[in-house]
Amino acid sequence: MIIIQTVRELLKWRSLMTTQSIGFTPTMGALHDGHLSLIQQSQKQCDISCVSIFLNPLQFGKNEDLDLYPQNINEDIKKIEQIGVDMAFIPTTEEIYNKEDSFIVTENILSTRLEGKSRPDFFNGVLTVVAKLFNLVQPHSAYFGMKDAQQLILIQKMVQNMKYPITIIPCETIREKNGLAMSSRNQYLNPTQRNNAKVVYSALMYAKELIIDGEKDSQKIKDSIKKTILSVPGFKIDYISIADTNTLLEIESDINSNKQTLISLAVFFNGVRLIDNIWI
Ligand code: PAJ
Repeated sequence: MIIIQTVRELLKWRSLMTTQSIGFTPTMGALHDGHLSLIQQSQKQCDISCVSIFLNPLQFGKNEDLDLYPQNINEDIKKIEQIGVDMAFIPTTEEIYNKEDSFIVTENILSTRLEGKSRPDFFNGVLTVVAKLFNLVQPHSAYFGMKDAQQLILIQKMVQNMKYPITIIPCETIREKNGLAMSSRNQYLNPTQRNNAKVVYSALMYAKELIIDGEKDSQKIKDSIKKTILSVPGFKIDYISIADTNTLLEIESDINSNKQTLISLAVFFNGVRLIDNIWI
């Protein structure tokens, strides 16, 4: 595996890849099986698979966990080397951001909903770094997890609107055996808490059953999710949303399993912010 740390080297590497199809998985490191499943999908579909590991400061708010965010670069390198990644781009912050930078990528509609309400600067940070990485790596396909549903939807939209010649491949959420969605932030939880956190997915699955059984009232479904999660001590709800996957607008009534619906939520569990969702 080639490890590249500078933009210069990366562009040189890219200029040599003239005939191969390139698959790209951007990450912030602390890699787990969720990340690896994206990379493996890229390896199935593309000649060359590359990964970036870059803890992007621009997508963290002032009071968020940038300084605490789990980092284990040596383990990460071992993991991706083992599965046969061709190239890892691991830049410093200075390689990506210049003090004089005065451009950011902003989206004005979808990014204000769901996560955007709780984390107002988050998507500017994500879209800006992903745009820069796309410009540098120039992949044919890029792999994103459905775990971060709104991020995936926004990146699909950016690629459409900004005419990037890149195919975005959505990848299923990988879960622990108990249903908890894998996340780098799960490292903040101790084993008992990780076990108790499974209630988040159970609540989502129960909501899906309610919809399949004919429940159409969004508020009733949200109440049921809330009640199930709050039955376990230590949880605080940030938001619960039942939204149209195209507009991310809330669906108030007439929910049905034939529409493209995203049930998503963010909760704090013992102070750790967890997100999860199911697509119906
Ligand atoms: P990060 O949280 O490291 O996630 C990198 C990619 O892995 C994202 O596409 C995310 O959706 C996916 N992923 C995370 N957990 C997953 C799981 N349990 N199952 C499947 N996929 C999962 O998302 C980011 O980094 C950043 O915002 C980034 C896009 C790299 C921009 O900085």
